[in-house]
Amino acid sequence: MDCFDFLSKIDNEVIDLAVIDPPYNLKKAKWDTFKSHDDFLNFTYKWIDSLVPKLKKTGSLYIFNTPFNSAFILQHLIKKSLIFQNWITWDKRDGLSAAKRKYTNGQETILFFTKSNNYTFNTDEIRVPYESAERIEHAKIKGILKKGKRWFPNPKGKLCTDVWHFSSERHKNKINGKTPKLPHLTPKPLDMIERIIKASSNPGDLVLDCFIGIGTTAIAAKKLNRNFIGCDNNRKYVEIAQKRLLEMNKLSK
Ligand SMILES: C[S@@+](CC[C@H](N)C(=O)[O-])C[C@H]1O[C@@H](n2cnc3c(N)ncnc32)[C@H](O)[C@@H]1O
Repeated sequence: MDCFDFLSKIDNEVIDLAVIDPPYNLKKAKWDTFKSHDDFLNFTYKWIDSLVPKLKKTGSLYIFNTPFNSAFILQHLIKKSLIFQNWITWDKRDGLSAAKRKYTNGQETILFFTKSNNYTFNTDEIRVPYESAERIEHAKIKGILKKGKRWFPNPKGKLCTDVWHFSSERHKNKINGKTPKLPHLTPKPLDMIERIIKASSNPGDLVLDCFIGIGTTAIAAKKLNRNFIGCDNNRKYVEIAQKRLLEMNKLSK
């Protein structure tokens, strides 16, 4: 289903978390090609305007895009009185194309906004291992003296920063340096979507993705016992998403 028809069928203020990986206008596929940057922005602002009323007052919104496009999207979200939380830099450990006259793009942006200051954020669920684990091993017992107080490392790891390192699916699936044809041009890494869902929702919450592709958000939501609703206007992708979900059901039985 097209995202606009789909969003118009959803009641207002029912979504806890929206994880949105929309077109970027990189012109790598028909669905990602717009006549101009203005056309792309009009489409983007239109789906944002349709989506925002669907979020609960306690809801959160994550939007993927290029850093350049995100600079425009951020302004639009601020004009809509959403509350800026983070500009997350995703280090993809891979470049989309080798630029010779500028630095090769190796990052994407994930904008994290909330509808109000009353929102879910499960800090402890997304702690990451200390990089200096060996050096602070002794601190587990004695602590480290900081400004007159003893600091002990958190057994669940350190706080998660706004710079994320996840290998892209393209990069992970390379064989002898070559990328095999994937069922989708831009599937997102499952572990990265899981981080978003763990941080910004609770079991039983309702997660939305209106550009679902081959279903990464749906799979992550199911794995983490969240409810999920989503669409894509490409029937082939939706069929693959449904197959992936069925496989998951079989594995969990
Ligand atoms: C960046 S991809 C999403 C990939 C997805 N996150 C995954 O991991 O598989 C964007 C998706 O938006 C879909 N799309 C583009 N325009 C759309 C529209 N107007 N309504 C619904 N889906 C659309 C495309 O078919 C494409 O699968």
